[in-house]
Amino acid sequence: MTPLNPQWTELKQQSFAAYIPDEVLKYRSDEIARIMEWKAANPVSLPAGVEIGSNRGCFLLGLARGQREVSCLGIELKSSLCRIASNKLAREGLTNGHVIHADARLAIPVLFEPGTLEAIYVLFPDPWWKKRHARRRLLDDGFFEMAHAFLKPGGHFVLKTDVLDYFDAVDEYLSSLSCFERVEMSSVPGSDSWTLSTRERHCLEDVLPYRQLAVRKRDVAWDGNVPVTLTEKKLEKHNYRYHPEEK
Ligand SMILES: C[S@@+](CC[C@H](N)C(=O)[O-])C[C@H]1O[C@@H](n2cnc3c(N)ncnc32)[C@H](O)[C@@H]1O
Repeated sequence: MTPLNPQWTELKQQSFAAYIPDEVLKYRSDEIARIMEWKAANPVSLPAGVEIGSNRGCFLLGLARGQREVSCLGIELKSSLCRIASNKLAREGLTNGHVIHADARLAIPVLFEPGTLEAIYVLFPDPWWKKRHARRRLLDDGFFEMAHAFLKPGGHFVLKTDVLDYFDAVDEYLSSLSCFERVEMSSVPGSDSWTLSTRERHCLEDVLPYRQLAVRKRDVAWDGNVPVTLTEKKLEKHNYRYHPEEK
């Protein structure tokens, strides 16, 4: 964490500030400035979809191959993995594929206008198994409020995970929101040319069960006031397990 930036109030004037908590604007201004610089040097044209946690680019490559008219942006926290994925895209000449080294929770609001994304893909998010790490989990109410804001009406959110507890929690949460509707995975544009992510390949090779879901954003307002929330699960420090029936 960087020290408090005395100019953080300037960031507060930017339109993306509505989607980033003040504490983050205050203390992660360096990261935000870096994303703004990247944006100036690498304009990502619309239509666009993003993969959060693109890792070595195994899934991103299939996205970019299958929809050449769509900008496919991988957002990844580890810079070494970004280089690997970028090199793969460049080797194939996939100029519609891009990778940014950033935290997606900052990058999406800084890089895009609300209501513009075709799709957000999250494949095998870090489970943060231990109760004391539960707060670090990517998917919570705030994440879905942001995803809802940045997807276009009719845009898709796709999740795959082998952490069945994580899946069940998200599944229950999304089912309670009227602003997303469940759809078949095969109806997500481009799904016929998806490739396996690293973790998905591992699951298939080792015959590990995993789950997947896809939802489409309905053209209605965010309705996050639901009785069971993902954030409450985080705050209760719910312990995730591969299989919910495990003791
Ligand atoms: C368990 S790995 C899964 C990688 C890949 N999606 C797959 O299915 O094999 C999770 C990935 O998400 C990245 N990640 C975690 N939180 C992130 C965030 N907030 N923004 C961008 N990337 C993130 C991690 O660095 C890691 O590469």
